[in-house]
Formats: sequence, structure tokens, C-alpha cells
Amino acid sequence: MIIKPRKSLSGTMKVPGDKSISHRAIMLGALAEGTTTIKGFLMGEDCLSTITCFQKMGVHIDIEDAIVTVEGKGLRGLKKPTSELDVGNSGTTLRLLSGILAAQDFECTITGDDSIKTRPMKRIIEPLLKMGAHITSINDNDRAPLYIKGSTLQNITYHSPVASAQVKSCIMLASLFTEGQSTIIEPVRSRNHSEIMLNVFGGHIEADGCAITTSPVDQLSATDIIVPGDISSAAYFMVAGLILEDADITIEQVGINPTRDGIIHVLQAMNGNITVFNKRIMNGELVADIRVQSSQLKGTIIDKPLIPTLIDEIPVIAVAACFAEGTTLIKDASELRVKESDRIATMVSELTKMHADIQGTEDGMIIHHSPHLIGNDVESYHDHRVAMSLAVAGLAAKGITTIHHSDCVDISFPHFFKLINGIS
Ligand code: S3P
Repeated sequence: MIIKPRKSLSGTMKVPGDKSISHRAIMLGALAEGTTTIKGFLMGEDCLSTITCFQKMGVHIDIEDAIVTVEGKGLRGLKKPTSELDVGNSGTTLRLLSGILAAQDFECTITGDDSIKTRPMKRIIEPLLKMGAHITSINDNDRAPLYIKGSTLQNITYHSPVASAQVKSCIMLASLFTEGQSTIIEPVRSRNHSEIMLNVFGGHIEADGCAITTSPVDQLSATDIIVPGDISSAAYFMVAGLILEDADITIEQVGINPTRDGIIHVLQAMNGNITVFNKRIMNGELVADIRVQSSQLKGTIIDKPLIPTLIDEIPVIAVAACFAEGTTLIKDASELRVKESDRIATMVSELTKMHADIQGTEDGMIIHHSPHLIGNDVESYHDHRVAMSLAVAGLAAKGITTIHHSDCVDISFPHFFKLINGIS
């Protein structure tokens, strides 16, 4: 994809549905009694992988006029798939689905693309084994493919070593099939979409700081879900709106769940002119419209408690930091090294090619004011968030930026390039 620089950006827009919420809506819809409809579902490759996996387990899922209908099978109604389940690039599908598969009365193998096969799975294997699951890494390397033979699970009290909603949700979903309460304690609270949505489907989840407790239910009940716009996708337009010379954009109906809104707080602390208005609740999720205007940013420090609330936005925050006076320090973010790519290494190498003054550290980045970026040939490493962050850098750079392997944006934001080129 070729990105040309531009000075202005204006108008009102929407971004596609939230990826985390879209995955969960399919999974809970499939396990519920009755028919769930989902509006605003993210038709990105990751969420389509979730649909395909559940279809392979006998769940009828239709997409018509952009509305997804899921015919729930109930907690005990999934069927053994006739071949292995392929999650593609989606870590959320793999980790959450493993929690469900661990409790079924069949065995199966779950796999994915080359990137997913490098990502750490011990973080889910360990708690699931403690619950009595039969789960093994086929190549004995704590990575996918995983072989899972469903069994009777026990409830658990688990102190997770990582703040990860995927780990927490995997255990929560497995707990749906146990007797007694389970408690999961995280070092820092991660996104809570599973808790919110499970309660909307009739589950019993209670949160107390970094701990959540699940209580058994006989069944989940189908419901109608409206998925808000994904703040992680809005983030690219928020940063573009701040760093371009003449910008004023409004992004409507964005999910601003407090466990996800770190980007707003950080960009505001960096002197960003961002207004959040029209706040409302949809299916238990806080939603708002966001207006962003050109701003002279200043550097900041981003560390521990904030990290899980903006983990996926750090690549584009690194771009914003190039335009911020002074220095921006990002630390306590070693999780970036095990995302779709090593996002510390990939962002540092590609932004350096564009003349950014940026260094990687073990658990973050140090970025000095370097606003005179120069377009170059850059590589996405097949990581959607790297590709879109480099596109934003390209808009604000001098000269042409060419992003290689840019198709990966389809993972979370189909039509991203059309939108960014189309907005006036
Ligand atoms: C997600 C949780 C986060 C996030 C990912 C989506 C989810 O991952 O980075 O894009 O939907 O639960 P971790 O749980 O690994 O932090």
C-alpha cells in the first residue's frame, strides 16, 4: 500500500465493530439457548475464523444484511468437528476456544497460521491442566497446535502471572462447565468484555478489583447484541487527527470501556485535543463519540497500570510520540513482544527507517521528538496493527511511504486504506 502525505483530515466517521466483543458474541451466542443476533459485528478475518470454528462444531451461523444470527446449541450441544479447528491469526479465538473445548465430550486439534504457532500458550495450558483438562502442545513447545480432549473440569482459584483478558476469559469459559465458584486474580486488571457479556447472557460474574469470581449457571440465554466501534481501530484516526496540521474529525459510536480507554487518557495527557461526548451504555458497554483536533503533543510516561488498557494501541502511540515535544517513555509492556509480531522490534525498526528517533528497551520504547519523518519502504511483518500504525506515520511524513504485506489490515479493519484515503 502506498501512502501519500496529507495535511488535512476532516469529517465524521465510524470504525468497524470491536474485535474482542465480536468474538465473544459468537462464542456466547453458540453456548446459549435460543437465537442471538449481532449488529455491528466485525467482519475481519479474525472474527470470521471464530465463526468458522463454531460452524465446524455444528452451530448454525448466518450473515445477512450485515447482521449475524447465531442459533445457540446450549452449554452441552457442540459437536465434534470433522477436521482440526483453524483459528488463522487469531490469538483470542485460540485461547478462549481452548477453555470451551477443554470441557466438551470430544477431542480435537486447534491450530492456526505461522504467527499463531509462535505465540505462548503455556499461560492457558497451565490453568486448564489445574482444572483437570487434557490439553497438550502437539510439538511439545507450549505453542499451537494444541490437542484437547474434553473432560470433567473442576473449579479453580487462579493467580494469573500475566494481565491477559485472553487467559482470564479462557478460564471463565471453562468455569461455565464446572460446579462451584472459580476466582481469577490478575496482577493488573485486563479488559472485562467477557465479564460484561456473560452477565448480559445470564451468567453470574462478580468483579472485585483485579479479581473476578464466576458462579455456576444452568444455562445461558440468547440475546441481541450491538457491537460498538473498536477503540483500537479508532486509535489510528485519533492519532492521525492529532498529528496532521489541519484536522478535525469525529468518530461515532466508539466503545470506551474503562478497561480499554487508556489511549484517550494518554493522548489527552500528551496535550491532545480530544473530546468525548454523547456517552451511553449499549449491552453493558460504555460507548461515546470522540472528536479529535490537530494538537501540538508533548511527551509522557506510560507504564504499568495503564498498559493493559492500551496494549494494542502502543504501536500507534509510538507514532504519536514522534510528534510530541520532549521524550515519551513506554515501559512495563513486554507483552508487546508476544503479539502478532514482536511489536517493540517491528515498530522500532520500521519507524527508524522513516527517521524516527526511537529505541527499543526490554519492555518498551523510548521515543524522542522527531517530527520530520521521511517516507520509505517499510514492512508490516504481517501484523495488522504495525501496518496501520505505519500508514498513520506515512500520512504525516514527507514523501511516499510504501507498506509491504499491507493486506493484513483485513484481520481487524477491512477497508482501512479505503477509509483513510477517502476521508476528506
Ligand atoms: C484480547 C486481549 C488482549 C489483546 C487482544 C485481544 C481479547 O490480549 O491484546 O488483541 O479479546 O481478550 P491479551 O489477553 O494477550 O493481553
